[in-house]
Amino acid sequence: MSRVAKVVAALSVDEMTERQARAEHKRLADEIAHHDKLYHEKDDPEISDAEYDRLRQRLKAIEVKFPQLVDMFSPTQRVAPTPTTAFTKVRHSRPMLSLDNAFTDEELQGFFDRVRRGLERETDLKSDAEIALSCEAKIDGLSISLRYEDGLFVQGATRGDGTTGEDVTTNLKTIKDIPQKLKGKGVPKAFDVRGEVYMERKAFVELNVRQIAAGEKAYVNPRNTAAGSLRQLDPEITASRPLRFFAYAWGEAEPRAWKTHSEYLKLLKEWGFKTNPLTKLCRTADEVRTFYKRIGEERPSLPYDIDGVVYKVDRIDWQERLGFVSRAPRWAIAHKFPAEQARTRLNGINIQVGRTGALTPVAELEPINVGGVVVARATLHNADEIERLDVRVGDMVTIQRAGDVIPQVLGFVPDERPKNAKKYHFPTRCPCPLKTEVKAEEGGVVRRCSGGLECPFQQVERLRYFVSRNCFDIEGLGGTHIENFFNDVLLKVPGDIFRLKNKEAEIKKREGWGDLSVRNLLAAIDSRRTISLDRFINALGIPLIGEATAKILAQEYGDADTWLAEMLAAAKERKEHPDEVKKEKAGREVGLSYGRLCNVEQIGVTTADAMCAFFTEGHTVEIIKDLLKQLSVEAVQRRVIAADALLKDKIVVFTGELSSMTRDAAKARAEELGAKVTDSVSKKTSLVVVGENAGSKARKAAELGVQTMTEEEWVKLSS
Ligand code: IVH
Repeated sequence: MSRVAKVVAALSVDEMTERQARAEHKRLADEIAHHDKLYHEKDDPEISDAEYDRLRQRLKAIEVKFPQLVDMFSPTQRVAPTPTTAFTKVRHSRPMLSLDNAFTDEELQGFFDRVRRGLERETDLKSDAEIALSCEAKIDGLSISLRYEDGLFVQGATRGDGTTGEDVTTNLKTIKDIPQKLKGKGVPKAFDVRGEVYMERKAFVELNVRQIAAGEKAYVNPRNTAAGSLRQLDPEITASRPLRFFAYAWGEAEPRAWKTHSEYLKLLKEWGFKTNPLTKLCRTADEVRTFYKRIGEERPSLPYDIDGVVYKVDRIDWQERLGFVSRAPRWAIAHKFPAEQARTRLNGINIQVGRTGALTPVAELEPINVGGVVVARATLHNADEIERLDVRVGDMVTIQRAGDVIPQVLGFVPDERPKNAKKYHFPTRCPCPLKTEVKAEEGGVVRRCSGGLECPFQQVERLRYFVSRNCFDIEGLGGTHIENFFNDVLLKVPGDIFRLKNKEAEIKKREGWGDLSVRNLLAAIDSRRTISLDRFINALGIPLIGEATAKILAQEYGDADTWLAEMLAAAKERKEHPDEVKKEKAGREVGLSYGRLCNVEQIGVTTADAMCAFFTEGHTVEIIKDLLKQLSVEAVQRRVIAADALLKDKIVVFTGELSSMTRDAAKARAEELGAKVTDSVSKKTSLVVVGENAGSKARKAAELGVQTMTEEEWVKLSS
């Protein structure tokens, strides 16, 4: 963030000028879009729900004070980002909406008032008439839509962006709470049942015990595990995960006989669904508040995570009168619980060394139950954070667990600071056996071990990354195994993994390994001897090069030999002309290979330099060449583009929902016409095709003056 942006971020909305509000609105919208992507597409959020909600609340507060800032691109005007996966897309018969949130009593009162005013305006409701609300615990899972035709389950889909989700029928069929055939009377002929897929806490903990025993990485929380389990390409994996389902809403329902929501919940049970027992029809605001309090008290002892209570106007004719505002119904609200907090003793601070040498301080806590989950460690982020919080070893600290992400330390309790509480001194040497010097990163808060590739802690982390899901994905060779094998010198570099078959006898002698598990492991390793170029590049763990960039590089260079030769040449040019290439863009003239690398879409000088630094370090090249001897890296099928192709050399971005074709089809067509399709908008983008409910990308295109067109115009152009 720039200095000015930081100042604005610290202002309260009341203090802002319109200009500041505009800048802050944009910053928040971009940040929300970023977190939406992590949450919805990767099932891997990096902030807590509470933090996310705070971003949205601030954005909304700005829009209330400066309504001129609301436009079609604001996150308040759309549901969620478009899904992108291998599953077939399903268009929902009726959109799957989201709920507005209330955090405070005033916000809740605001909802009651809006409902009453709305109904007084739309109906002949008397000012003292009761408005019954169906109040239900808000399950923290993922919503899905189940299609029943003549009482038979025919298709199930995730919510996706609310309009289009992903077809996960086969996986849903493995969930016992989802009836295949509905029983009883009055089932609508065409019927979408909606509800929440979730995982119970106990099952989540057990699954993690199994994961850890298998040497795999532990999952973060039940909700993301449930989401990840449902999006497995292999339904057997889904079947092995104990997923559950509660029904609570509907999409299309023809014919529909029920008149109230509470009546519907009863029918759902008759038809064979599970509904949440923590449900009550409340007739007054006081009853609602009492129910919220009760559920809040029960929350820690419930078998599953909940994050609030949902209130719905019970009468459906009234729901219809109240209608919707963009992404949420006016007749319902989610009354959220505050993030769960607890106090416990800070017993010590340990340092974790990451793959690229970053040192992260971790709080070692007296284990404590926070909302049903035992927490023994929490992140302290970095050295500056410890300074800022002024926490000392021995302190009583407040920690927060927000259902997801790693628990955080919020601060210490001054009254309970023991006399002997010790100030923590951030180490100046890496805790690894080499004890190399720790260096602060220029301009950043991160401190790094300077041992580079030689640091054994980093080596282990790199190997762990190498075998992880998005890289070589070697089943049965999890993080703990890697660490043990590394410590016992069974493997040191990635190539050793593929030589483990020479150590079969040694592995069999180890505790926890039998004939079968060793055989399975070696088979899993063998099955990965052929690998795609992008996975190969990603697995090397080059700083700043992730999954997406690895894909782009693979497209650009086509095969492993070319890529390696080009990277070596680029690194050499970069080394021989350190001064020229320092100047932005100068790289393009310095050398062919370095210039080519800088010019690859989404790379630029910083990433190119990180790549060159990586190839200049230690034994990198030997390690890669050794690895390549063990593998066959598949060449990328390059597209042959005619010289007169309509979109030759153009960079196209699709954003928003397309109604006449899928995103994949549109992409494929653009590529046929010679375009390169990317995900983010920059100065280099030639064209942005803007579908419905587009987000910040369309706005960015407008800001940068990049050409945009509607779906209709795109169809005309491309057909
Ligand atoms: S009703 C149009 N009822 O909360 C209303 N949602 O923040 C649609 N959720 O997407 C939702 N429990 O995933 C409703 N009893 C409940 C719920 C519930 C959990 C989730 C659902 C929804 C999200 C909105």
